[in-house]
Amino acid sequence: MTDRYVVIGHPISHSKSPQIHKMFAAQTSQDLTYEAQDIAPESLDNDVRTFFSDGGRGMNITLPHKEQIPALVDAQSERAALAGAINTIAVQEDGGLFGDNTDGEGLVTDMVNNLNADLEDARILILGAGGATRGIIPDLLATNPQLLTIANRTVSKAKALEKHFAHLGNIFGAGYDELGKQPYDIVIHATSAGLAGDLPPLPDGIIGAFTFCYDLSYADQDTPFVAWVKELGCTEAHDGLGMLVEQAAAAFNLWRGVRPETAPVIEAIRNGQ
Ligand code: ATR
Repeated sequence: MTDRYVVIGHPISHSKSPQIHKMFAAQTSQDLTYEAQDIAPESLDNDVRTFFSDGGRGMNITLPHKEQIPALVDAQSERAALAGAINTIAVQEDGGLFGDNTDGEGLVTDMVNNLNADLEDARILILGAGGATRGIIPDLLATNPQLLTIANRTVSKAKALEKHFAHLGNIFGAGYDELGKQPYDIVIHATSAGLAGDLPPLPDGIIGAFTFCYDLSYADQDTPFVAWVKELGCTEAHDGLGMLVEQAAAAFNLWRGVRPETAPVIEAIRNGQ
């Protein structure tokens, strides 16, 4: 029987996940369907349980539901527990639901394998201290950076993340005005400011010509952050399409036990296929 998978969110019509997973399935000859389903917050519990009781095999979860899913699974990975958010559910052999968070793995894989970033001993700055940042911190700290600084408009949220993740590595929460003037090796944009056409108030000097810049969001044209850092002379400015495909590949591997090739999928989506 064909196995059923789904991505849920609210809204969800913009999601590229069905396209990505269909390409993975064709490439690896896996017999599965993967659809998008819009689920409103008030029916989340019921709709998630119904999908699995009807025989669904796996689920991806996007905004705004990732932080509500831990309450609905039977077990979760350590990184999902640390992040307080789940983006992938797999059905275990005993029928129980297992939650994981593949966002950080997707980011690190794209940066290191696809874009040749060197994270070990790097000075990394993350802009923003919301859910997106929480999801990527465990995997970033696992690469042993020299320092992971979290800068946020609401400083207390950056400090709270520092406290929450301090046992995993060298992490520091700060306000934008505390960042000094030295270029960082790596700057990751994880705020939602771009949705309103804004950018976080970064002090001059933080982004140098050799700073590797990465925007977690993705658009058909340059995101506001990517366009801005290019204007500042940054030659390594990347958006989050590769992360999107790599987090999907990690989920696919969890479900099917086979890791798809990501490069042709990233290229196909980049070219609007
Ligand atoms: P997400 O799940 O996308 O991370 P979130 O949890 O709502 O969304 O977090 C949004 C992040 O973007 C926060 O770090 C927020 O800063 P505050 O905590 O100070 O609100 C940041 N953000 C949103 N709009 C911003 C703006 N105009 N300038 C700077 N930071 C902004």
